Amino acid sequence: MSAAGQAGAGDRPATAPAAAPPDDLMSALRALPSRYPQARGALLPILTRLQEWRGHLTPADMRLAGELVGVAAADVFSVVTFYTMYRQRPVGRFPLGVCRNIACWVNGSEQLVATVRETLGIGPGETTPDGLFSLEEVECLGSCGSAPCLEIDSCYFEQQSPVSVKALLARLKAGAGDAAATLAAAHADAAAELRRARDGRP
Ligand code: FES
Repeated sequence: MSAAGQAGAGDRPATAPAAAPPDDLMSALRALPSRYPQARGALLPILTRLQEWRGHLTPADMRLAGELVGVAAADVFSVVTFYTMYRQRPVGRFPLGVCRNIACWVNGSEQLVATVRETLGIGPGETTPDGLFSLEEVECLGSCGSAPCLEIDSCYFEQQSPVSVKALLARLKAGAGDAAATLAAAHADAAAELRRARDGRP
């Protein structure tokens, strides 16, 4: 299955500066705790929204999240370090996350990483010099039935192959001027192709 994020790569500041969240985002964040039986239940959604906006989480983001839900900063830090989906350093406009767990591994995740390395010249933990792409190997994305799976800003690209990854990277690079729209369109096409494949349609 696929998941779409609230905000795409193009919605965040290009250089991920140490800026405070904009007013509209702050309003949305402040509204979240009241939607949960306990305010702390909003911690993960708040961290996720902050990361979608900035691309990673800074110490200031973690402090802010803690203040909004009444949780100590040290506990927020523990949460951030526990979940591999949270990042503490800047990433590219298109942060590629290749699942390395068993279902994806037996179905070729290593070839996907090799394809990214060969195409972009980066390995896990690295970012291209132009700041467009970064690569991480991540833990199970919960899409084991559609392995191997690649995630970009909460958009899942499932049943990937070296050929499809090469095409995806080329498409994203060509459309990087409007990163969010390009990612959304590529994600929609990939999801449609997966549906066709599952239905046995050409
Ligand atoms: S093993 Fe890759 S999505 Fe679960």
